[in-house]
Amino acid sequence: MRAKIKRAEIVATCGPTSQFPEATLPEVALLGRSNVGKSSLLNKLVQRRQLARTSSTPGKTRLIHFYEVEIGGDALRLVDLPGYGYARVSRSEREDWKRLVERYLDAREPLRAALLLQDLRRDASEDETLLLAWLEERGIDPLVAITKVDKLKRMQRQRRLRELRGQLALAPERAIATSAQTGEGIDALWRAIRARVAAPPQV
Ligand code: GTP
Ligand code: MG
Repeated sequence: MRAKIKRAEIVATCGPTSQFPEATLPEVALLGRSNVGKSSLLNKLVQRRQLARTSSTPGKTRLIHFYEVEIGGDALRLVDLPGYGYARVSRSEREDWKRLVERYLDAREPLRAALLLQDLRRDASEDETLLLAWLEERGIDPLVAITKVDKLKRMQRQRRLRELRGQLALAPERAIATSAQTGEGIDALWRAIRARVAAPPQV
């Protein structure tokens, strides 16, 4: 049975120089290439059509957005990080991205897991494999959502899922097939997220 979203609201938007909101709840960060579907997946998770802004123009989200969610008996924050890999950005914009994202990931005490998104139709690149290694080095639990699975038919989809899980070196339970369009995988993703939020912090 699908757990009910009792509350979903934005609590803060942060840029390179802003202070992050006071840490009051466990957090799970969404991370991935620009246009991979982070904001769409977040909206689907919280059952709100336009809480997070989505766009067909890549590179729209340059800021960190903190959303507070109550689901069943759990309260947590989903943190939408700006996308990377957008071709038309300058070197200094890329460095701004890195500084902002690392400032968050490096020292955010309530961070329980990072959810990396990977488009089903693209190959995983060095960006994704390096990010996963970087997370692991810092003891941040990596979880992957493979996005837009509605875009391929069943047979092709199974083949691509196997390929991607191989490229990312992840077991199936850590690389969940999802669609923000059909809602596929959303319950499985919530189960994985809530298991990490409920777990005591790693020492
Ligand atoms: P940035 O904020 O620019 O980094 O992008 P994002 O990762 O937040 O992507 P966003 O959610 O804005 O989605 C990008 C485009 O992909 C939009 O046109 C969405 O409608 C489309 N999209 C996202 N998820 C899905 C999905 O599951 N299925 C399909 N078919 N399209 C999707
Ligand atoms: Mg976005």
